[in-house]
Amino acid sequence: MKLGVIGCGKMAEAIIRGVIESGLHRSGEICGSDINRRKLGRLAKKTGILACSSNAEVILKSGVTVLAVKPQDISKVVSELRAAKARSRLVISIAAGVRICTIQQAIRNARVIRVMPNMPCLVGGGMSVFAAGSRATTADCRVAQRLFNCLGDVLQLSEKQLDAVTALSGSGPAFLAYCLDSMIDGAVREGLSRRIALKLATQTMFGTGKLLRELGTDPADLIAAVASAKGTTAAGLTVLESSCLRQALVRTIRAAAKRSRNLSGVGNP
Ligand SMILES: NC(=O)c1ccc[n+]([C@@H]2O[C@H](COP(=O)([O-])OP(=O)(O)OC[C@H]3O[C@@H](n4cnc5c(N)ncnc54)[C@H](OP(=O)(O)O)[C@@H]3O)[C@@H](O)[C@H]2O)c1
Repeated sequence: MKLGVIGCGKMAEAIIRGVIESGLHRSGEICGSDINRRKLGRLAKKTGILACSSNAEVILKSGVTVLAVKPQDISKVVSELRAAKARSRLVISIAAGVRICTIQQAIRNARVIRVMPNMPCLVGGGMSVFAAGSRATTADCRVAQRLFNCLGDVLQLSEKQLDAVTALSGSGPAFLAYCLDSMIDGAVREGLSRRIALKLATQTMFGTGKLLRELGTDPADLIAAVASAKGTTAAGLTVLESSCLRQALVRTIRAAAKRSRNLSGVGNP
């Protein structure tokens, strides 16, 4: 098997679908395991991957193994993998807040890569950032890059930057959805139906992201370009500035990054 996935939930399904749809691997080259046999059976039926009877079977069968269980389940899974005596494997963990050294110490000689993907991976619009462990090779990094490129954009950074990454691109979809939801509430009060407001707001968010990316525009320049003196945008921006939304969002990212550091046992600098 080229690819094995342990934990067949939402993110695993996104990875498996992305890999198959992009043509990186065929379904027959992928296997998976999950403590929930019904969920595993459903995914195997939907995607055509091989359902394994244990996590150990997955790592022993696969060239690359992705750990896609929740962070609180990682220690149980890695002790099963240690017992399977799977050595010198490439293990890619997407578990938020689980440090590379935790997995490296548990699975002897494993080459470990830690990835922080995000929810838009489910629709191919993801942002994944990975950090390589000390044993991971350049070829391993290329494997991670190719794998997560099937789900969107990929960037390699150092592990110490992953807490800020977790706050911005990992949790970011929820923060942006919060802002969008509030703007929709405002538009409904101004007379639009929720359905129409949702369409306008999501397309506006999508188009704004596309414009900033494709033209390489600085967000401050975009704000200045949309807001003409004494116009509608300027009137709205005055309220945003007086409500201290900028400071609130800075604090939001700080709180999420702090929580990520706490979860990974690093604490605050
Ligand atoms: N969702 C996101 O937006 C996102 C973003 C970035 C990173 N991540 C990371 O991605 C990982 C997976 O998240 P998810 O949202 O895909 O979670 P999920 O949908 O809950 O999937 C995890 C799966 O693992 C199964 N599982 C639990 N213990 C297991 C074990 N010992 N052996 C095998 N399978 C086991 C779970 O079964 P049960 O349901 O029966 O427990 C579940 O089916 C997490 O570590 C998360 O931090 C998620």
